[in-house]
Amino acid sequence: MKRYFFLIAGFVLTQFAVAQTQDAKMKDFVDALMKKMTLDEKIGQLNLPGSGDIVTGQAKNSDIGRKIREGKVGGLFNIKSVAKIKDVQRVAVEESRLKIPLIFGMDVIHGYETVFPIPLGLSCSWDMKLIENSARIAAVEASADGINWTFSPMVDICRDARWGRIAEGNGEDAFLGAQIAKAMVKGYQGTDLKANNTIMACVKHYALYGAAEAGRDYNPSDMSHQTMYNAYFPPYKAAADAGAGSFMASFNEVDGIPATANKWLMTDVLRKQWGFKGFVVTDYTGINEMVDHGIGDLQAVSAKALNAGIDMDMVGEGMLTTLQKSLKQGKITTAQIDAACRRILEAKYKLGLFDDPYKYCDENRAKTDVFSNEHRKVARQTAAESFVLLKNENNILPLKKSGTIALVGPLADNKENMPGTWAVAARFSEAISVLQGLNETVGSKVKILHARGSNLDADSLFEERAGMFGKSLRRDHRPAEVMIKEAVDIANQSDAVVLALGESAEMSGEASSRSNIEIPGVQKDLMKAILKTGKPVVLVLFTGRPLAIKWESENIPAILNVWFGGSEAGYAIADVLFGDVNPSGKLTTTWPQNIGQVPLYYAHKNTGRPLGEGQWFQKFRSNYLDVSNDPVYPFGYGLSYTNFSYSNIEVNTTSLKGNQILAATVTVTNTGKYDGKEVVQLYIRDIVGSVTRPVKELKGFQKIELKAGESKRVSFGITPEDLKFYNYDLKYDWEPGDFEIMIGPNSRDVKKVKVNWSK
Ligand code: BGC
Repeated sequence: MKRYFFLIAGFVLTQFAVAQTQDAKMKDFVDALMKKMTLDEKIGQLNLPGSGDIVTGQAKNSDIGRKIREGKVGGLFNIKSVAKIKDVQRVAVEESRLKIPLIFGMDVIHGYETVFPIPLGLSCSWDMKLIENSARIAAVEASADGINWTFSPMVDICRDARWGRIAEGNGEDAFLGAQIAKAMVKGYQGTDLKANNTIMACVKHYALYGAAEAGRDYNPSDMSHQTMYNAYFPPYKAAADAGAGSFMASFNEVDGIPATANKWLMTDVLRKQWGFKGFVVTDYTGINEMVDHGIGDLQAVSAKALNAGIDMDMVGEGMLTTLQKSLKQGKITTAQIDAACRRILEAKYKLGLFDDPYKYCDENRAKTDVFSNEHRKVARQTAAESFVLLKNENNILPLKKSGTIALVGPLADNKENMPGTWAVAARFSEAISVLQGLNETVGSKVKILHARGSNLDADSLFEERAGMFGKSLRRDHRPAEVMIKEAVDIANQSDAVVLALGESAEMSGEASSRSNIEIPGVQKDLMKAILKTGKPVVLVLFTGRPLAIKWESENIPAILNVWFGGSEAGYAIADVLFGDVNPSGKLTTTWPQNIGQVPLYYAHKNTGRPLGEGQWFQKFRSNYLDVSNDPVYPFGYGLSYTNFSYSNIEVNTTSLKGNQILAATVTVTNTGKYDGKEVVQLYIRDIVGSVTRPVKELKGFQKIELKAGESKRVSFGITPEDLKFYNYDLKYDWEPGDFEIMIGPNSRDVKKVKVNWSK
């Protein structure tokens, strides 16, 4: 035992020593380089301009080319292809005075050319290996195509389904969000950032972007520091702890100061409290926008950003054009410019760009490693893992591989909408639609009839807004009744109907907030008409956010939520519909009954007048006149083609002291006919606190596989670490007392046991 201890301690010390030497080497290198740099060149490193219209072979003669030559550019983003990137890099390392290479970023959010499910969907897999691997593959592809820095992971916690960018994050929970943040950073950065197939992560949007008031994008976020630290910060901190190389400031204000100028956020919390050592970039024109926020003119806000701890200015060139003047006027210091410049140079050093500026520009790799069959296969499996089965009355699903199926809906035969929002590098024309997926997988056995049935929305202008960036739904101009009739006709000739309905890809994502989160009326009319045929109906639901589908949950017999599953989604949908894959996804957001309940989240506080469990309505209690407090689908919810039963919780003791470990165990049994996967979830309630505590908080989960009829014991080892929270003084500690331990298949249907824990 002792020997192992010394071996491990020895290994850790050696690693530490290696890291120290590497840091010292980097410092020497950057010191020497910075000695040669003029003030202008240092400020130039802080500049991340838009790449404009660089044409391959023409970088030299472009405006950007001129700036690069003059040492006024630190990096570029969203340029695609080795040829273009090489061309620009050549100007930097051959024609600029100090030959400092550029860093190349891109929004590689959920895959590169091989697109994985939107992050909200991916999070529903609750499978950290799978999530890490999706980021790994994204890094392999992006790095093969010249990219060495990704603006991901997006780890903003969101409790408001109106906000369109909820699609880009991992849902409402801080604990799960933190695990996913770590997995993503690991997937992108690997163990060696210098390797040519790893890329630097950029954690965004720091901070609290997901708490935009009224769910309207870019709106202020305003909350107590306790809520920040306990419910919103953990994923950012976890990503910093995991060694993320960079952070991106968010657009919103925090505590009345835009995040981009918020020194408390950028320096006190991020660097001093969390020990973050990388660099911070603004979001797109984040500095310039502070003029409209109303905290100064461009010179003032650029100085404020630098003062706050921002190192790189995306697009707006506020720093490039005003920092010299601010320095002369004593509004900023040379030391601040030096610190920011150093962090950018260090990032380039860590990526190995000074050893080889073309390290990520290997045409051969670009040919073999991007959109490979192997990656597409993983994307197909990953998509199926992200789907959430919300309802399956009378076991309509899986469908039989025989007979006739009517496939109906505006999203059934559309490739462009499959990858979902923020898929900059996607090959849209090669994405697999539902119709294609069904035809190619079961088409030889099942006759597939198809009709569009309806448009996305009755309002053509809304549909235009919801079909931006080349993702048009190609509106059908026939009258709605004619389209519905055509769909009903094919439904009548079929054994079952699959409806591909919901949101288009651009109905979520940036600047795609909605004040009504129901499925558009014209699609509801179609559903009603199809239900009247009396045929078994399956709703394949596309969405980038939780939707208010109370009516559908009561009237449609089977609902499979498929988010936006990426390049191979059409195949994955067929795999699940026909039972080749048993769905196992679980929601990572609460699905409300209506928009008026929002924000609705499971880890809420109790109030002084809580409603008794399962009750509604009581006068002078915390509830509504017109709707109960319940969601339609709770956080953590998702069905399978099989059933799982949970035993009561066994604990090793109900009375603990200090650092003892509480073992809480349940036996989970697969009582159905299919092999399946189940996400077993652990929640804890701290019953009495020095501050009010949530009614439950996720503290652990395990995704297990059970053959039909099989049972497994699932144990959680709980320590005081799991009881800690940030108290009124923002001290991270636990408080002795009674705790409720809950284990179950979702946040609602849990078994409970009470324990006492003294210090
Ligand atoms: C978004 C960021 C993104 C950036 C660069 C901004 O509009 O908020 O998430 O990384 O653009 O494309």
